[in-house]
Amino acid sequence: MLAANRRHGVSEWDGMHFDFVCPSPTHYPFQWFWDSAFHAIALLQVDPALAKQELRSLMQGAQPDGFIAHMLLWEKSLNPQWLLPDYSIRLAHPFYTATIQPPVVARALERIYDATGDADFVREILPPVLRFVRWLQRVRDQDNDGLVAIIQPDESGLDASPKYDAAMGVPSQPPEETLPALRRSMQRLFNAYEGVGAEREPRLDVFLFEDVMVNTIHADALRALARLSRAVGLPGADELEREYRRTLDALMAKCWHPEAGLFWDLSGAKEEQVKVLTFSSLFPLVLGDLDHGVAKRLVEEHLLNEKEFWLPYPIPSVAATEPSYDPKWLTQTTWRGPTWVNVNWYIYWGLRAHGFDDVASELARRTVEMQAKGGIREFYDPVTADGYGATDFGWSCLVLDMIAAEGSPHPKR
Ligand code: GLC
Repeated sequence: MLAANRRHGVSEWDGMHFDFVCPSPTHYPFQWFWDSAFHAIALLQVDPALAKQELRSLMQGAQPDGFIAHMLLWEKSLNPQWLLPDYSIRLAHPFYTATIQPPVVARALERIYDATGDADFVREILPPVLRFVRWLQRVRDQDNDGLVAIIQPDESGLDASPKYDAAMGVPSQPPEETLPALRRSMQRLFNAYEGVGAEREPRLDVFLFEDVMVNTIHADALRALARLSRAVGLPGADELEREYRRTLDALMAKCWHPEAGLFWDLSGAKEEQVKVLTFSSLFPLVLGDLDHGVAKRLVEEHLLNEKEFWLPYPIPSVAATEPSYDPKWLTQTTWRGPTWVNVNWYIYWGLRAHGFDDVASELARRTVEMQAKGGIREFYDPVTADGYGATDFGWSCLVLDMIAAEGSPHPKR
């Protein structure tokens, strides 16, 4: 399937050679920033040379100021339907967007290094990844608190998550009103950003989210870049390590809610905690340096809670206790209840980092079973494992990495 989703050729604009795996041939024909990082990790189980190729292709999107767009529209003229207003894309250039996605790419680079030991590859790819992280810090952390902000919902990759509903002025209920309201609201944001420029956009405070998942991935990127810099003899490792600790400390100081035993995103310049329970609230578990007592509460009080997240096919994108929880995809939009494989993959490794190996194995087992029932789809019903959304969906191949880590195609019970 990864081979069938592969796209290669010469770009219509700068004559660059692209060669990458698209997220879905029927739904998503371009190169997406965090998808490609997940694809590279899955490709390691098949062909490490293709994993490297995936990141090389992606880094051709790096701009002189460090920015890397969330979509590179390599074969734009073959896919005109994507330019319809329905998709709500904001462009910085005819061939790439003005928006970002989380820097999973640093973790992908670390995994490629661990699998191949190729220090030259790290020396080639780390500099543009680091410049992107510096861009994030400069442009998206203008209050300098160690947490970076997204300025429209799809920048997290969690496009229509109900945690953004209040900030977007979108009704969480009834389901059929969510999508049209969201489209109208996106257009309002685009109008506000028209001609403003990247540096000033966050200052408008029309949508500003210090998102727990995005900042966990940002912290993880700083950690991975520090480790890789040290390993291949590039400068700046100590500073990156300090920045990693600072972002982790900021997550604890500003987002951790000791009574609830979970993390909340911050909305607006006023940084109000947004109390909508989604998997993001558990996400700092991904960081091995998170306080163990905190990790234990996330796992025991929430992840393993059968009313919230521990459903037959965990981890639902929204807790089953939320009024907006929509496991059957009635809203016809994303991240409002179904289970996604990239989330399970991240939490799987977080569980292992904190010594919850049995929970990790059970999560892997149920993820494989879910995919066996539902196919290689974009997301799944957390109760029945029915597959929804795009078909032949690239990052759902991350099960390969979990299976390899478990050492068996049928992870143990
Ligand atoms: C959807 C997802 C987003 C992903 C994109 C391509 O928009 O919400 O996270 O990057 O599809 O797969």
